[in-house]
Amino acid sequence: MRDIFKREIKYLRISLTELCNLRCRYCMPEEGVCKKSHEEMMTQEEIIAAVKVAAKLGVTKIRLTGGEPLVKKDIVQLVSRIKEVNGIEEICLTTNASLLPKYAADLKKAGLDRINISLDTLNPDKFKFITRVGELKDTLAGIDAALNTGFKKVKINSVLIGGFNDDEIVDLANLTLKQPTDVRFIELMPMYDSGDFGKDAFIPSTVVIEKIKEVYRGKFENDDDIIKEVTHKPGGVARIYRINGAMADVGLISAVSNHFCSECNRIRLTADGKLKPCLHSNQEILIKGLDEKAMEEKFREAILAKPEKHDVLSYESRSHAERNMNQIGG
Ligand code: GTP
Ligand code: 5AD
Ligand code: SF4
Repeated sequence: MRDIFKREIKYLRISLTELCNLRCRYCMPEEGVCKKSHEEMMTQEEIIAAVKVAAKLGVTKIRLTGGEPLVKKDIVQLVSRIKEVNGIEEICLTTNASLLPKYAADLKKAGLDRINISLDTLNPDKFKFITRVGELKDTLAGIDAALNTGFKKVKINSVLIGGFNDDEIVDLANLTLKQPTDVRFIELMPMYDSGDFGKDAFIPSTVVIEKIKEVYRGKFENDDDIIKEVTHKPGGVARIYRINGAMADVGLISAVSNHFCSECNRIRLTADGKLKPCLHSNQEILIKGLDEKAMEEKFREAILAKPEKHDVLSYESRSHAERNMNQIGG
């Protein structure tokens, strides 16, 4: 289905839970989340009903996010049921990967197509700092599990944080030389309560290309041969580049400096059953508790309610979404 700005909505992001086994500083508060009652959350039946309605309206791609989607006990069954829905061509997962050694093989069998993994640093102490409780080795084991299980398209997401990981940009980008994982750098988005980062933490993603060129200068005949832009994929949120000789791509998600709203093809469903027409608006449309027919009405309403674009985001002017990222699903 198209929205009023003629954008075709083909992608539904479903947040399965607000809970996470990590506590990333830019994503959720230290104390975790106040656990909502079971009754407030979407059941598996309701999620499947929502997927069927979305597919009927033209959605072909589903992404399961969170919080951390792998803390949901029924995740494997959910993937296999979504896979059976007519019209769904692709099921993807966004995860911190720490539980992938346990689940990767079963998820593959259930029909999961792609995995995106959050990893902001390659230093164990910094990893512990940014996630507050996590172990780098667990996420690295999860990446290996995904690759060894035969997932062909694994993407790593690194949130760019000035003063924290801007000194690791080239190390992270160099992962694309060693393994078939794309690495995408995401500009830090100023959400409702996304940590106590100062103004200097918000750096534009163009810094990534400058740093890579700086380090590789002189290694190739021409500076233009160091890293090249690859064709742009419509509907994607990243600009895609490749370092000379690499096995995979480096992506820039300029969520703050350059929004991609005119190409937006997505709608979101929160774990507590609300459709969000736009990541950065506070509009929410409740579908929990509705039958398929009533859900369809609400989906249409949500698609037609998509704003043309979100307001400018900055350190001073934060997202209008009155939720943290763990309550939206990225
Ligand atoms: P692909 O299907 O692999 O293209 O994944 P994706 O980029 O859609 O999903 P992922 O969950 O990996 O999201 C990567 C980052 O992009 C997250 O930080 C999201 O918050 C951000 N992002 C995703 N969708 C939007 C959007 O509609 N607007 C903005 N501003 N950022 C988004
Ligand atoms: N700004 C940018 N990216 C964020 N993510 C979570 N919170 C933020 C934020 N405030 C990222 C995670 C994950 C993706 C779904 O969203 O790192 O990769
Ligand atoms: Fe679309 Fe809203 Fe995302 Fe912009 S912020 S790309 S309008 S969902």
